[in-house]
Amino acid sequence: MQDELKKQAAQAALPYIKDCKILGVGTGSTVNHFIDLLAPIKQQFDGAVSSSEASTKRLIELGIPILNLNTVGTLDVYVDGADEVNANLQLIKGGGGALTREKIIAAASKTFVCIADESKLVSCLGASPLPIEVIPMARHYVAEQILGLGGKPIWRENFTTDNGNIILDVHAMQITNPLELEKIINNMAGVVTVGLFADRAADIVLLASESGTKTLTASNR
Ligand code: A5P
Repeated sequence: MQDELKKQAAQAALPYIKDCKILGVGTGSTVNHFIDLLAPIKQQFDGAVSSSEASTKRLIELGIPILNLNTVGTLDVYVDGADEVNANLQLIKGGGGALTREKIIAAASKTFVCIADESKLVSCLGASPLPIEVIPMARHYVAEQILGLGGKPIWRENFTTDNGNIILDVHAMQITNPLELEKIINNMAGVVTVGLFADRAADIVLLASESGTKTLTASNR
Protein backbone atom coordinates (compact mmCIF):
# COMPACT_ATOMS: atom_id res chain seq x y z
CA MET A 1 0.00 0.00 0.00
CA GLN A 2 2.78 2.44 0.91
CA ASP A 3 4.28 1.77 -2.50
CA GLU A 4 0.95 2.63 -4.17
CA LEU A 5 0.93 5.93 -2.27
CA LYS A 6 4.48 6.67 -3.38
CA LYS A 7 3.34 6.16 -6.96
CA GLN A 8 0.34 8.42 -6.35
CA ALA A 9 2.64 11.17 -5.04
CA ALA A 10 4.91 10.75 -8.08
CA GLN A 11 1.93 11.06 -10.39
CA ALA A 12 0.89 14.29 -8.69
CA ALA A 13 4.25 15.86 -9.62
CA LEU A 14 3.62 15.56 -13.37
CA PRO A 15 1.65 18.83 -13.75
CA TYR A 16 4.61 20.71 -12.21
CA ILE A 17 6.97 19.57 -14.97
CA LYS A 18 4.75 20.06 -17.98
CA ASP A 19 6.77 22.98 -19.45
CA CYS A 20 10.08 21.68 -18.25
CA LYS A 21 12.90 20.92 -20.68
CA ILE A 22 15.64 20.19 -18.16
CA LEU A 23 14.59 18.45 -15.00
CA GLY A 24 16.30 17.92 -11.63
CA VAL A 25 15.78 14.35 -10.46
CA GLY A 26 16.23 13.05 -6.91
CA THR A 27 16.80 9.57 -5.53
CA GLY A 28 14.82 6.83 -3.80
CA SER A 29 11.84 4.53 -4.22
CA THR A 30 9.31 7.38 -4.65
CA VAL A 31 11.49 9.02 -7.29
CA ASN A 32 11.88 5.66 -9.04
CA HIS A 33 8.11 5.73 -9.64
CA PHE A 34 8.44 9.30 -10.89
CA ILE A 35 11.18 8.28 -13.36
CA ASP A 36 8.98 5.43 -14.63
CA LEU A 37 6.19 7.94 -15.26
CA LEU A 38 8.52 10.00 -17.48
CA ALA A 39 8.64 7.24 -20.10
CA PRO A 40 5.64 8.39 -22.18
CA ILE A 41 6.77 12.05 -22.14
CA LYS A 42 10.53 11.61 -22.42
CA GLN A 43 10.70 13.45 -25.78
CA GLN A 44 9.79 16.64 -23.92
CA PHE A 45 13.15 16.74 -22.15
CA ASP A 46 16.51 17.97 -23.39
CA GLY A 47 17.92 16.16 -20.37
CA ALA A 48 18.03 15.75 -16.61
CA VAL A 49 20.42 16.61 -13.80
CA SER A 50 20.54 13.56 -11.57
CA SER A 51 21.29 13.35 -7.85
CA SER A 52 22.77 9.82 -7.82
CA GLU A 53 24.35 7.08 -9.86
CA ALA A 54 21.20 4.99 -9.22
CA SER A 55 18.84 7.59 -10.73
CA THR A 56 21.31 8.29 -13.55
CA LYS A 57 21.19 4.62 -14.54
CA ARG A 58 17.38 4.60 -14.64
CA LEU A 59 17.21 7.85 -16.62
CA ILE A 60 19.74 6.62 -19.17
CA GLU A 61 17.81 3.36 -19.55
CA LEU A 62 14.79 5.50 -20.37
CA GLY A 63 16.75 7.46 -22.98
CA ILE A 64 16.83 10.78 -21.10
CA PRO A 65 20.29 12.39 -21.46
CA ILE A 66 22.17 13.26 -18.25
CA LEU A 67 23.39 16.85 -18.07
CA ASN A 68 26.09 18.43 -15.94
CA LEU A 69 24.78 20.99 -13.43
CA ASN A 70 27.79 23.20 -14.16
CA THR A 71 26.65 23.54 -17.74
CA VAL A 72 22.95 23.88 -16.97
CA GLY A 73 23.29 26.48 -14.21
CA THR A 74 19.83 26.99 -12.73
CA LEU A 75 17.04 24.43 -12.92
CA ASP A 76 13.35 25.29 -13.03
CA VAL A 77 12.10 22.22 -11.18
CA TYR A 78 13.64 19.59 -8.93
CA VAL A 79 11.55 16.56 -7.92
CA ASP A 80 12.68 14.42 -4.99
CA GLY A 81 11.41 12.38 -2.04
CA ALA A 82 12.09 12.71 1.69
CA ASP A 83 12.46 10.62 4.81
CA GLU A 84 10.54 13.14 6.93
CA VAL A 85 8.59 16.34 6.29
CA ASN A 86 7.34 18.90 8.80
CA ALA A 87 4.63 21.54 8.48
CA ASN A 88 7.26 24.14 7.43
CA LEU A 89 8.23 21.91 4.48
CA GLN A 90 11.61 21.27 6.11
CA LEU A 91 12.93 17.80 5.45
CA ILE A 92 15.18 14.99 6.56
CA LYS A 93 16.76 13.39 3.50
CA GLY A 94 19.57 10.98 2.79
CA GLY A 95 18.07 7.60 3.62
CA GLY A 96 19.48 6.53 0.25
CA GLY A 97 22.80 8.26 0.94
CA ALA A 98 22.49 10.78 -1.91
CA LEU A 99 22.02 13.83 0.34
CA THR A 100 24.95 15.92 -0.89
CA ARG A 101 24.04 15.91 -4.56
CA GLU A 102 20.39 16.29 -3.56
CA LYS A 103 21.20 19.40 -1.56
CA ILE A 104 23.23 20.89 -4.40
CA ILE A 105 20.44 20.36 -6.92
CA ALA A 106 17.79 21.66 -4.51
CA ALA A 107 19.89 24.80 -3.99
CA ALA A 108 20.28 25.32 -7.74
CA SER A 109 16.55 24.89 -8.47
CA LYS A 110 13.82 27.52 -8.58
CA THR A 111 11.13 25.10 -7.41
CA PHE A 112 11.70 22.03 -5.26
CA VAL A 113 8.74 19.66 -5.45
CA CYS A 114 8.90 16.99 -2.75
CA ILE A 115 6.88 13.79 -3.28
CA ALA A 116 6.04 11.54 -0.34
CA ASP A 117 3.41 9.36 1.22
CA GLU A 118 1.62 10.62 4.32
CA SER A 119 3.73 8.45 6.68
CA LYS A 120 6.57 10.94 6.12
CA LEU A 121 4.72 13.88 7.74
CA VAL A 122 5.84 14.49 11.34
CA SER A 123 5.19 17.17 13.93
CA CYS A 124 8.87 17.25 14.93
CA LEU A 125 11.75 16.09 12.71
CA GLY A 126 14.05 13.42 14.12
CA ALA A 127 12.02 10.24 14.53
CA SER A 128 13.92 8.93 11.49
CA PRO A 129 17.71 8.88 11.66
CA LEU A 130 19.39 12.06 10.41
CA PRO A 131 22.08 11.16 7.84
CA ILE A 132 25.36 13.09 7.72
CA GLU A 133 27.91 12.62 4.92
CA VAL A 134 31.39 12.77 6.45
CA ILE A 135 34.96 12.67 5.08
CA PRO A 136 36.19 9.20 6.18
CA MET A 137 39.05 10.46 8.41
CA ALA A 138 36.63 12.66 10.38
CA ARG A 139 34.23 9.85 11.32
CA HIS A 140 35.29 9.59 14.97
CA TYR A 141 35.64 13.34 15.44
CA VAL A 142 32.19 14.12 14.02
CA ALA A 143 30.61 11.26 15.98
CA GLU A 144 32.02 12.76 19.20
CA GLN A 145 30.57 16.18 18.34
CA ILE A 146 27.16 14.65 17.66
CA LEU A 147 27.25 12.80 20.99
CA GLY A 148 27.91 16.19 22.57
CA LEU A 149 24.67 17.47 21.00
CA GLY A 150 22.74 14.55 22.52
CA GLY A 151 22.42 12.46 19.34
CA LYS A 152 23.39 8.83 18.87
CA PRO A 153 25.53 8.53 15.73
CA ILE A 154 25.67 5.14 14.00
CA TRP A 155 28.13 4.49 11.19
CA ARG A 156 26.32 3.16 8.10
CA GLU A 157 28.73 0.28 7.60
CA ASN A 158 29.59 -1.15 4.18
CA PHE A 159 28.25 2.00 2.54
CA THR A 160 30.21 4.55 0.53
CA THR A 161 28.50 7.59 -0.98
CA ASP A 162 28.76 8.46 -4.67
CA ASN A 163 31.36 11.03 -3.53
CA GLY A 164 33.54 8.42 -1.76
CA ASN A 165 32.56 9.37 1.80
CA ILE A 166 30.86 7.67 4.76
CA ILE A 167 27.46 8.27 6.37
CA LEU A 168 26.71 8.68 10.07
CA ASP A 169 23.01 8.17 10.88
CA VAL A 170 22.05 10.16 13.95
CA HIS A 171 19.36 8.54 16.08
CA ALA A 172 17.44 9.83 19.08
CA MET A 173 17.45 13.52 18.18
CA GLN A 174 14.35 15.63 18.56
CA ILE A 175 15.01 18.43 16.11
CA THR A 176 13.14 21.36 17.60
CA ASN A 177 15.14 24.00 15.71
CA PRO A 178 16.05 22.56 12.28
CA LEU A 179 17.62 25.78 10.95
CA GLU A 180 19.98 26.08 13.88
CA LEU A 181 20.93 22.40 13.94
CA GLU A 182 21.63 22.44 10.20
CA LYS A 183 24.07 25.34 10.69
CA ILE A 184 25.77 23.73 13.70
CA ILE A 185 26.35 20.39 11.97
CA ASN A 186 27.40 22.05 8.69
CA ASN A 187 30.09 23.89 10.65
CA MET A 188 31.76 20.75 11.99
CA ALA A 189 35.12 19.99 10.41
CA GLY A 190 34.84 16.94 8.19
CA VAL A 191 31.10 17.24 7.56
CA VAL A 192 30.30 17.35 3.86
CA THR A 193 26.52 17.67 4.20
CA VAL A 194 23.84 17.14 6.81
CA GLY A 195 20.57 15.66 5.55
CA LEU A 196 18.52 18.46 7.12
CA PHE A 197 16.88 20.55 4.43
CA ALA A 198 15.75 23.46 6.59
CA ASP A 199 17.42 26.52 5.07
CA ARG A 200 16.52 25.33 1.58
CA ALA A 201 13.25 23.57 2.41
CA ALA A 202 10.83 22.25 -0.21
CA ASP A 203 8.58 24.74 -2.01
CA ILE A 204 5.79 22.24 -2.54
CA VAL A 205 5.15 18.92 -0.81
CA LEU A 206 2.79 16.45 -2.47
CA LEU A 207 1.63 14.13 0.28
CA ALA A 208 -0.28 11.04 -0.85
CA SER A 209 -2.85 9.35 1.35
CA GLU A 210 -5.68 6.90 0.71
CA SER A 211 -8.11 9.80 0.63
CA GLY A 212 -6.12 11.72 -2.03
CA THR A 213 -2.99 13.81 -2.44
CA LYS A 214 -2.59 16.91 -0.34
CA THR A 215 -0.51 19.85 -1.58
CA LEU A 216 1.49 21.67 1.08
CA THR A 217 3.03 24.93 -0.13
CA ALA A 218 5.45 27.47 1.26
CA SER A 219 2.52 29.80 1.94
CA ASN A 220 1.23 27.24 4.49
CA ARG A 221 4.47 27.75 6.48
C1 A5P B 1 17.84 9.62 -0.84
O1 A5P B 1 19.13 9.92 -0.41
C2 A5P B 1 16.83 10.24 0.05
O2 A5P B 1 17.00 11.57 0.34
C3 A5P B 1 15.43 9.96 -0.43
O3 A5P B 1 14.86 11.06 -1.06
C4 A5P B 1 14.64 9.63 0.76
O4 A5P B 1 15.35 8.67 1.49
C5 A5P B 1 13.25 9.11 0.41
O5 A5P B 1 13.34 7.83 -0.10
P1 A5P B 1 12.07 6.96 -0.45
O6 A5P B 1 11.37 7.65 -1.56
O7 A5P B 1 12.67 5.65 -0.89
O8 A5P B 1 11.24 6.82 0.77
